[in-house]
Amino acid sequence: MTPKSTWETFFDAHAPIYDGNVFTKNTILEVDFLLEELSLQPGGWILDVGCGTGRHAIELARRGYAVTGLDLSSAMLARAADAAKAAGVNVDWIHADATRFSFPGKYHDAALCLCEGAFGLLGQGDDPIDQPMSILCNISRSLKPQAKAVFTVLNGAAMLRRVQNKDVAEGRFDPLTLVASSEVPPQEGLSAIAVRERAFIPTELLLLFRIAGLSVLNMWGGTAGNWGKRPLDLDEMEIMVVACKTAEPSAAGV
Ligand SMILES: C[S@@+](CC[C@H](N)C(=O)[O-])C[C@H]1O[C@@H](n2cnc3c(N)ncnc32)[C@H](O)[C@@H]1O
Repeated sequence: MTPKSTWETFFDAHAPIYDGNVFTKNTILEVDFLLEELSLQPGGWILDVGCGTGRHAIELARRGYAVTGLDLSSAMLARAADAAKAAGVNVDWIHADATRFSFPGKYHDAALCLCEGAFGLLGQGDDPIDQPMSILCNISRSLKPQAKAVFTVLNGAAMLRRVQNKDVAEGRFDPLTLVASSEVPPQEGLSAIAVRERAFIPTELLLLFRIAGLSVLNMWGGTAGNWGKRPLDLDEMEIMVVACKTAEPSAAGV
């Protein structure tokens, strides 16, 4: 059996308390916002990558959409499945790594990848370009032409304004790849976990999305709990990217 990646280990342990995080408390408004952006027909098929405990997937299913929720963490998915059952809705839950999935011959009407749902959560050996690139290409290949996708990703501008040269010297931040490395303190039954998070700047997002066949329509402030169609504030935590599938991933993708 393949050993668990660091993020799988982290989220398996974090699953019981994930829904207590304050940034998860605006799901209804977030789903209202998403539906305004996604231009879906009633009953359309939505792929939620890094769906976590399923808060968006379940609310979308409640509103009549067909939803597939994909996540690396079986513990997060188990909670999602329990919550869907309690809500009386059906969601197709898939345990998979977003860098390695496909739905041959099946095409979704929209995709979501929210709150760093996989995008930018690097495993120890992951390449900072290839990891997000393969997620984008996998999502793009799963979409119908003209289907829309919404992502929220860590804002590189905010990260650059926060870190110091000392962080670079001491290995906590790589200015070339915008990767922050940190250690999650030991939790019950688990030793400390070293994790890597990748932030992005808007111009590289435009390029990565373009290579994946996704045209960026808008980039807004996308900090969890504070989404809005406003210019990106340099200090805000996350960028929201709204994109549309306009081509197949190019050969430069992976
Ligand atoms: C911060 S949570 C976000 C969950 C959900 N999208 C939300 O908005 O509440 C990040 C999720 O991404 C999942 N994840 C991390 N790396 C992943 C990967 N490579 N493939 C699939 N899921 C991944 C984690 O297991 C976790 O459930």
